[in-house]
Amino acid sequence: MKNLYFPIKFKLTLWYVLLLLIVILIFSITIYFSLQKMIINNEDILLNTQIKQTISSLDIENGVIKLSEEPFYYNSSIYGALLSYPDMKILESNLPKDIINKYSPDLKTIGQYKTIYTSKEKWRVYSSSIYSNNKILGILIFAQPLNFLDIAMKNLSVIIYIMIPLIIIVAVVGGILISNYVLKPIDRMTKVAREISMGDLSKRLNLPYTNDEIGRLAQTFDIMIDKLDDSFKRQRQFTHDASHELRTPIAVIQSQAELSLSSSNTVSEYTKALSVILEEAKYMGKLISNMLFLARGDNKADNLQMENLNLSDLIEGIVSELKPIAENNNIKINIVKNEPSCIKGDQTRITQLLYNIIENAIKYTLPEGNIKLYIENHDKYIKISVQDNGIGISKEHLPHIFERFYRVDKARSIKNGGSGLGLSICQWIALIHGGKIEVFSEENKGSTFIIWLPSCGVTHK
Ligand SMILES: Nc1ncnc2c1ncn2[C@@H]1O[C@H](COP(=O)(O)OP(=O)(O)OP(=O)(O)O)[C@@H](O)[C@H]1O
Ligand SMILES: [Mg+2]
Repeated sequence: MKNLYFPIKFKLTLWYVLLLLIVILIFSITIYFSLQKMIINNEDILLNTQIKQTISSLDIENGVIKLSEEPFYYNSSIYGALLSYPDMKILESNLPKDIINKYSPDLKTIGQYKTIYTSKEKWRVYSSSIYSNNKILGILIFAQPLNFLDIAMKNLSVIIYIMIPLIIIVAVVGGILISNYVLKPIDRMTKVAREISMGDLSKRLNLPYTNDEIGRLAQTFDIMIDKLDDSFKRQRQFTHDASHELRTPIAVIQSQAELSLSSSNTVSEYTKALSVILEEAKYMGKLISNMLFLARGDNKADNLQMENLNLSDLIEGIVSELKPIAENNNIKINIVKNEPSCIKGDQTRITQLLYNIIENAIKYTLPEGNIKLYIENHDKYIKISVQDNGIGISKEHLPHIFERFYRVDKARSIKNGGSGLGLSICQWIALIHGGKIEVFSEENKGSTFIIWLPSCGVTHK
């Protein structure tokens, strides 16, 4: 019984039908008793008026009630009894005897309304004393059969007995239909989620958007699957590209090793083979550390050691480190504009970002080229421009250069030990620092990379 499936639509319907039933019952009971009380009150008012009229019409002479030939109920619809006091003798009456007995008129019961049950019917009874000179001469009892009340109450009961089941049936059917309609998207979500869990990430709910809880849930669900799909695709692509990248150096190492082992070589041939192997191993080492860096970055943007950094010092340090490489290629590198600037960031990461961009400028600039650096304060940001007059990037390649493993000229990059991960890493570092990288480039003319980073005191998410 533990795993019994009980759909939410039935639970909802059950709860609200139960609630409706309680409300209808309370309503019916209230109506029933209010109506009963209203009818009895009317009877009481009628009895009171009739009894007062009759007493005032009685003939009393010298402290004695004079009975006329026609009794007080003659020619009227009144039921009553006139009793003498104190001997309680019935002087005139058209009332069944047991009503008088059950009412048992005496000084205590005078003025009381009572409902008396005879074998056949119900009566409402009221009495009043007849006074003359402060002396009670007799008691007048009036009664009305409560036939109308019985009929009215019976009719009302019938209506209630028929209406309650009818209302409940309508409520159950309506409830199930409405819950079905409302919960349909949830059923669809379950179906799609099941399909997705089987590996088909192309599935979407694609429900027409409604601005309610379910509409928003469906939309969030689709957005979530979009992101998952995108992330899986990128991961698959990354694994694919990474394996592809590693295949070439491994093949080179393998062939160099096999060649060296298969024949007797001279020392210089062995040295050459080993230096090729060393180059490839270095390349693989760099590639793997870059890949590890990006993989970690995918999961976490924290673990940053944020501090105030003097950007001029940082760039001057990188330039002096890279200057010998640039000079080897006859490339000039200068900081043209150096405004005092401070950024809040992780020193290792910011150095890595600037190093990669400046290293690219050197790598992709031909001998006799010129690289200029500008550091400027712009409102809440620091703008760092790295301008070269190198080979440039054509329009078709420009939108892709920040993608992982993307290289415009693969052969040239590999020759320079490039894996195509540098700019992806740079962009990730800029983003987690609340900044961005822009690039302007023209083929054969040169490129300008502009790095925007928030200056000290600016908080970012
Ligand atoms: N200053 C530049 N001038 C011309 N092309 C550039 C410049 N900077 C980057 N590129 C192009 O963008 C590609 C991607 O750059 P990225 O830094 O990501 O990779 P890489 O330099 O080839 O390798 P890595 O940086 O991983 O050693 C480069 O291969 C190159 O084609
Ligand atoms: Mg690079």
